[in-house]
Amino acid sequence: MEEEIKFSTSKYIFYNPAMTFCRTMSSLAVGAIGEKIDVVDAFCASGIRGLRYKLENPNVKNLTFVDISQKAINLAKKNAKMNKIKGIAKRGSISELAFELNADFLEIDPFGTPSPYLVDAFRFFNPKKVAYLSVTATDVAVLCGGKVAPCMKNYHSIPMNNEFTHETGLRIMIKRIAEVAAEFNMGIEPLVSFSDRHYLKSVLRVTRSADLAYNSLKQLGYVFHCKTCGFRGKAAFPEQKCSNCNSVNNFAGQLWLGNLHCAKFIAKMLALNKKRNYKDKEKISEMLYLLTGEIELPPYYYNIHKVCKLHGLKAMPRTDLVLQTLNDHGYKAVKTHFSKIAIKSDAPYKTILEGMRTCSKD
Ligand SMILES: C[S@@+](CC[C@H](N)C(=O)[O-])C[C@H]1O[C@@H](n2cnc3c(N)ncnc32)[C@H](O)[C@@H]1O
Ligand SMILES: [Zn+2]
Repeated sequence: MEEEIKFSTSKYIFYNPAMTFCRTMSSLAVGAIGEKIDVVDAFCASGIRGLRYKLENPNVKNLTFVDISQKAINLAKKNAKMNKIKGIAKRGSISELAFELNADFLEIDPFGTPSPYLVDAFRFFNPKKVAYLSVTATDVAVLCGGKVAPCMKNYHSIPMNNEFTHETGLRIMIKRIAEVAAEFNMGIEPLVSFSDRHYLKSVLRVTRSADLAYNSLKQLGYVFHCKTCGFRGKAAFPEQKCSNCNSVNNFAGQLWLGNLHCAKFIAKMLALNKKRNYKDKEKISEMLYLLTGEIELPPYYYNIHKVCKLHGLKAMPRTDLVLQTLNDHGYKAVKTHFSKIAIKSDAPYKTILEGMRTCSKD
């Protein structure tokens, strides 16, 4: 059982119970779309994702399973039957079936990087004006590991391994999606995106329009970070020198500088979560509130321990005190889902440092 869904597993077919949280978040996203949609679960394995999307959300019309493994397709069919679902199940690579199937909502959940499948994914949307793409990347070591060669190879971007690497990695993944979307004349809008355990996830709305495609590309750029003083920033082009202390910056990009989530969409997910009895209900609510707070803030965060250590502050300030101080100065400052000991804020770096210093003395 996963949540309310009965299903069988097999030692030959991939099933990771630790991804239940990811499937639950994604199922809430499917429900939050609201309009009637045809779903293709393109890397279905046991079929548990697609089954949960269909059984938990009345707006899912047709469900199609795709997997390259015949054993997986057999298991997904068996699990659909067990739940009285009339799903179509096709054995084959997403690359061949992209020319045969259409989807309003496509699930891309491969082993490792989703990059080689993105062009195939957009072919599923060929007849559509608007569609939804749900992407998981488990190659966190590539996106967040700071090794340039594998990240350039798969994502055409330079990564950066530092205290906010998980946000950088997620934004590199979304950038790659925006690039492929643009080639299909589609613009992207991330609806909900997060980093959890050893994977990165984003559900996006994609809309066919040459203008929107170009607008998405205009939201690509770089983040930079000075190891000497901890200053960080974002811009359309990397800034080589730290504007705070003149040291050489590290930088990452291109990456997505736009929002990672849509406030209205997350509000719908929150409302749905309240009505459901998921075992992760509280953790999900917490996560969704954190995501809401992150909207419209800069594309990086501040690890309080790391920043304090860099500046010789011995007493770690309490996070809520730092947030309060920045709020009192008229800035937005919130906790972030990326790290329990980090904050996001639109305050200038000097003000953030000053806030940490003041609170460290209290
Ligand atoms: C990580 S598992 C999917 C897990 C599943 N979505 C879940 O939530 O439990 C990846 C699956 O993709 C299948 N696969 C690998 N390459 C594929 C391809 N090119 N096209 C379709 N399926 C593929 C594998 O057989 C495997 O079952
Ligand atoms: Zn500096």
